[in-house]
Amino acid sequence: MISSQDSRRDSGKEEIRVEGLTMAYGEKIIQKDLNFSIYKGDIFIIMGGSGCGKSTLLKHLIGLIRPYRGRIIFKGIDFWNVSQEKRLEMLRGCGVLYQSGALWSSMTLLENITLPITQLSGLSQKEAKEIASFKLSLVGLGGYEDYYPAQISGGMRKRAALARAIALDPDVLFFDEPSAGLDPVSAKHLDDLILEIRKSLGATIVIVSHELASILSIGNNSVFLDSETKTMLATGHPKRLLMESEDPKIIEFLTRGTGKRELRLV
Ligand SMILES: Nc1ncnc2c1ncn2[C@@H]1O[C@H](COP(=O)(O)OP(=O)(O)OP(=O)(O)O)[C@@H](O)[C@H]1O
Ligand SMILES: [Mg+2]
Repeated sequence: MISSQDSRRDSGKEEIRVEGLTMAYGEKIIQKDLNFSIYKGDIFIIMGGSGCGKSTLLKHLIGLIRPYRGRIIFKGIDFWNVSQEKRLEMLRGCGVLYQSGALWSSMTLLENITLPITQLSGLSQKEAKEIASFKLSLVGLGGYEDYYPAQISGGMRKRAALARAIALDPDVLFFDEPSAGLDPVSAKHLDDLILEIRKSLGATIVIVSHELASILSIGNNSVFLDSETKTMLATGHPKRLLMESEDPKIIEFLTRGTGKRELRLV
């Protein structure tokens, strides 16, 4: 298995460590024996075929599902070795964009983003609205405050959901398939936005993605999950996996089945 050290280049600080993780729903094992680290400032990609357990892993990383076996160490603390109260406090520093991450359809974009701010920060409605408006402008939706989700395009909805995920200036962000369903140009814009957010917030970003262009252009660390063997086949820089992996499944995934190891497509 390829396991690279190159992602430590930023500061070397470990943000999340996954140790001997087995994930299951009831007795149904989804993935077993996962071991990898996510470092501060990483854009960490969770990849693998449909149904292999990527969204499930994301939910484990944010302490929403208890491991069947093994541990998730988040900023040095084991999620499941602390009180529920402490776990919620740990989650407060995280922003999440779920795969089905719909906005509330009965609320305007501004209201959608104001709500979590007032709920979680204790700021006044007025202050929260100002922040929400600023976040919308950050994702290029200034002027759309009073629109309802149904009145904007799919790409704009993704950006609004992104604004909601960054509402409270999280230092760790989790995105599940942020560019699914977007055309290549919108997907590229979203990638650029993710890079900007990482820079402006100094955040660590964990992304579930199928988009090869995104994986190879913005990811600097990753884990590859396999549904057949129900375990990870590699962790490390996606470009390095593309150029050096000997595993046929990884080569197939990262070359879109062509087997040609080239970085030109990004
Ligand atoms: N709440 C649940 N209860 C029981 N089984 C579940 C639950 N959620 C997911 N599963 C099962 O776990 C497996 C992994 O699902 P998961 O959604 O994590 O995969 P994924 O890699 O994110 O898939 P996709 O690429 O389609 O988003 C699937 O077999 C799925 O049916
Ligand atoms: Mg999923």
